[in-house]
Amino acid sequence: MLIKSAEFIISNTDYTRCPQPDKPEFAFIGRSNVGKSSLINMLLERKSLAKTSVKPGKTQTINHFLVNNAWYLVDLPGYGYASVSKSARFSFGKMIDEYLKNRINLTCTFVLLDVRQKPQPIDLDFITWAGTGELPIALILTKADKLKSNELARSVKLYEDTLLKMWEELPPMFLTSAEKKVGRDEVLNFMDTAMKSRG
Ligand code: GTP
Ligand code: MG
Repeated sequence: MLIKSAEFIISNTDYTRCPQPDKPEFAFIGRSNVGKSSLINMLLERKSLAKTSVKPGKTQTINHFLVNNAWYLVDLPGYGYASVSKSARFSFGKMIDEYLKNRINLTCTFVLLDVRQKPQPIDLDFITWAGTGELPIALILTKADKLKSNELARSVKLYEDTLLKMWEELPPMFLTSAEKKVGRDEVLNFMDTAMKSRG
């Protein structure tokens, strides 16, 4: 899929103020610093359309990007960032929760996981929550450039084995590197197919 245009539309903390839900939408979620904003920039081939930082907690709002005038990519705040106050953490939870539950045009939510780390309870909790709420998800293992190929294979296997203990079927899984532009075509093609099958 060709990216012809990409523009920032709006940033807010309330799903009711998001753009009209009249176009397919894909959201990116995961722990702070996992690389959500960087991946959006990589997919859209725009250096700093989504704001990134070496410090966790950079994205704190729901950010809509309009692509090809036809669909939205949404950059979300990270979950489970321990340095913010308890109340802020709760509100991240509530903002994300309400957005995911109520956004009727959400075609797929990508759950980002750092390929260097073992499956973490908070991620498995989120995946379980999505599964029970019938929220369509796909998994993206990020920062693939940080590991050697045998280590990557081991990590992918560990994620698969862990998930297969909980479910009979695995969600779609992708391996990406925003740094080395790995996995771009795979993720974009998946989105394209998802939009076409949605009609
Ligand atoms: P929050 O907005 O805080 O939730 O974080 P985020 O998930 O949006 O992460 P962000 O894209 O801001 O990236 C966090 C850090 O990881 C930055 O220093 C990025 O440069 C780095 N990073 C992101 N993706 C990759 C990658 O594929 N490879 C490498 N080596 N670094 C990456
Ligand atoms: Mg971010």
